[in-house]
Amino acid sequence: MCPRPARARIIQPAMMLDELQARCEAVRREWAQASASARDPAGVEALRIKFLGRKGFVTTAFAALRTLPPEERAAAGRLLNALKGEIASALEALQAEAERETVEARLAAERYDLTLPGSWRPVGRLHPLTQVRREIEDIFMKLGFDVASGPELETDYYNFEALAIGADHPARDEWDSFYIADGLLLRTHTSPVQIRVMKSQPPPVRIVCPGRCYRRDNPDATHSPVFHQIELLWVEKGLTFAHLKWILREFVTEFFGPGYEMRFAADFFPFTEPSAQVHIRKPPGEWLEIMGAGMVDPAVLAEVGYDPEGVTGFAFGLGVERMAMLRWGIEDIRLFFQNDIRFLSQF
Ligand code: PHE
Repeated sequence: MCPRPARARIIQPAMMLDELQARCEAVRREWAQASASARDPAGVEALRIKFLGRKGFVTTAFAALRTLPPEERAAAGRLLNALKGEIASALEALQAEAERETVEARLAAERYDLTLPGSWRPVGRLHPLTQVRREIEDIFMKLGFDVASGPELETDYYNFEALAIGADHPARDEWDSFYIADGLLLRTHTSPVQIRVMKSQPPPVRIVCPGRCYRRDNPDATHSPVFHQIELLWVEKGLTFAHLKWILREFVTEFFGPGYEMRFAADFFPFTEPSAQVHIRKPPGEWLEIMGAGMVDPAVLAEVGYDPEGVTGFAFGLGVERMAMLRWGIEDIRLFFQNDIRFLSQF
């Protein structure tokens, strides 16, 4: 038996330069084929590992340098370095290209069309009744009036008695209301605020009182069981009907504009004497009633503890809905309370 030597001597045949050259060409062809289909960054990375990685084609070729005769190594080194340089720069170009393509793909997927209209967000606005109320408050505040308010749930005393509308007064029919237990009711007008303010301070009094009122009316185009009034009250020494007329003139011109005629028609309210309806028109238009007004009845002044010989006063009450309807030509009062955005967004 022939014993195997402990260590076999592996004889590596020395590589020839032209052999190396052929191998370089094979790697080049390999590269040309593999790199043709690498498009995305992961594919390019796989190429890098395959050719320039630790066990890659080029690296192993360098390892083969050792087996060349020393006088050929320099030439072989140049060959391999050239190959390595070629592949490295081709790889770099591929990497840049793949990256550009992914960025482009992402941009294309996320593309904004800047010419599209923005997303629409509804913007709220003030209800037409609020607009009119504020406008009227402003007009009178400029004339030196304060804004006062009172409760919507009133006592029979403030809503009727103190305004000289006794329990059996026929005027109560006109102001039929929603009654709650214990002599409480939803106020039928803003006139009770007159009483509350006068009882709380000595004259002079210059106030406007906006607020919600209630009457037992069936809703139709001109009636609503809930509506709004603005009351005005001025009590001071020496006031006459002429002052009332002046205030009204100011108001009509400010609110409706120039060119309106104004007239008074006789009316009756238990708490004013004399009492009037105020009418306006822009010729050749129709006369329109805009409010009830009058000089405060001396009995009312006495009721709140004022001296009817010392001071006089006047008051009026106007309907906010009516002012808004006249301002914008609205024909149905119910529109104010239906909350239809198509209607409300016009103001
Ligand atoms: N309060 C009355 C109404 O509601 C209007 C009015 C107020 C009349 C002030 C005269 C003076 O009809």
